[in-house]
Amino acid sequence: MRIELTVNGEKHLIEAEPEETLLKILRDKLGLTGAKKGCDTGTCGLCMVILDGKTVKSCQIKAKKLKMNKVVTVEGLGKPGALHPLQKAFIEHDAVQCGFCTPAMLIVALDLLSRNPVPSREEITKTVSKVLCRCTGYIPIIRAIESLAEENKRKLTSKNKPQT
Ligand code: FES
Ligand code: FES
Repeated sequence: MRIELTVNGEKHLIEAEPEETLLKILRDKLGLTGAKKGCDTGTCGLCMVILDGKTVKSCQIKAKKLKMNKVVTVEGLGKPGALHPLQKAFIEHDAVQCGFCTPAMLIVALDLLSRNPVPSREEITKTVSKVLCRCTGYIPIIRAIESLAEENKRKLTSKNKPQT
């Protein structure tokens, strides 16, 4: 079957088997290896991408369910020399821990901040727990996301301040 996907703003016409997963398509057909294959059973969250505005585990999405969808992967965030603020915050807070969980952590954080620019620590913790870190832990990642939430709060407060 042929599917049309817009990935990180770029349109692709892709030949895929109906049972092939979005994760496999991204990695093997489009060369976007940021999303990782951890469990392949919908448990670990390492394959997280944004599909039509919602985070999904791409290992659980079959090609037969796809039709002209918009996908954002970690590769769509920023580039060397022009990093996304989230990527910068992860670097500044030592939250870039390993190549397995970091791409998915960035994706869930991006989704959270786009829906709620000033999330609480509880909301941030709940969000990052969608992605399983098997080794280092979540604290630096939470701090990185929290730093952006604080920055957003400052911006919103100064915008709403009455001009004198
Ligand atoms: S690889 Fe998709 S949830 Fe683990
Ligand atoms: S799995 Fe990446 S740091 Fe734990």
